[in-house]
Amino acid sequence: MTACLARPGRRRAHRRPCSLGRRGTGPKHRGAASSGSPQLAGRRPPSAGEQRRAQPGPRPGPAPPQPLGRARRKMAGQGGSGAEARSGGGRGVVISDNWPGYSLDLFTYPQHYYGDLEYVLIPHGIIVDRTERLAKDIMQDIGDNDIVVLCVLKGGYKFCADLVEHIKNLSRNSERFISMKVDFVRLKSYHNDQSMQDMQIMGGDDLSKLTGKNVLIVEDIVGTGRTMKVLLNNIEKCKPKMIKVASLLVKRTSRPDGYRPDYYGFEIPDLFVVGYALDYNEHFRDLNHICVINDHGKAKYRV
Ligand code: IMP
Ligand code: MG
Repeated sequence: MTACLARPGRRRAHRRPCSLGRRGTGPKHRGAASSGSPQLAGRRPPSAGEQRRAQPGPRPGPAPPQPLGRARRKMAGQGGSGAEARSGGGRGVVISDNWPGYSLDLFTYPQHYYGDLEYVLIPHGIIVDRTERLAKDIMQDIGDNDIVVLCVLKGGYKFCADLVEHIKNLSRNSERFISMKVDFVRLKSYHNDQSMQDMQIMGGDDLSKLTGKNVLIVEDIVGTGRTMKVLLNNIEKCKPKMIKVASLLVKRTSRPDGYRPDYYGFEIPDLFVVGYALDYNEHFRDLNHICVINDHGKAKYRV
């Protein structure tokens, strides 16, 4: 992942495995970019709003750019032991608040979204590569079990399909295997970009079929965590043998009681994102990359 920068704990209270984020406003950033640093190449110039966001706040400040080799070693060795690096929770790729993203001009995306997006937050290829690693982590933790994969629709369908595919490939090519059934549940909790008080649970099989089963819930994004807590409460009533949650994204919100899934791909800033099946009022599911929607896009598709 060429854009991946390690953020060792030099100026941080806690260690992070890998960060896409760098402060993109200062002369250091420009110097590094112009010197051809692979980590910074191709990033779009920061907007005025981002420059404001990048002002020093409660979050720890930036560390100097790192050679990619060091970043890779940091990722591989995070936590010091293979066992720790395996177990998913709390060890996703961290995208910092200052990460300016990639210019849309560097990628292809549907013409009907031209003018509606701010920038690419996570390119499709990186999503797929990270998902492959999550599949490996899941295999190592719960391999040799029968599981029911419960895909949370609609936003989770792309991540779930890719994750299941990777697990199948790993199962086929190793001594360990996971026998999977896939089921679906549909939840609706957002209107425009606002979380609604009443969450609707629709569709899917009767949840009572999960009694005594090993359940892997697959979700697109955990924001406030409210949706996942409601779903978990409902599933726990059915007394499954085990429940694990895999979410592609976790949003960094200010809520201290924020729910953390067992496995997640990326921790992202508190932004409304679309693409890779994540929607804004049903639009943008057909966009491959995870992007930040702009005000024009929000206004255009507001209901
Ligand atoms: P939560 O209840 O705030 O954790 O929100 C979880 C659900 O809201 C997710 O399953 C998504 O369907 C939706 N959601 C939250 N944030 C976003 C976003 O940035 N883009 C698209 N959907 C989102
Ligand atoms: Mg969802």
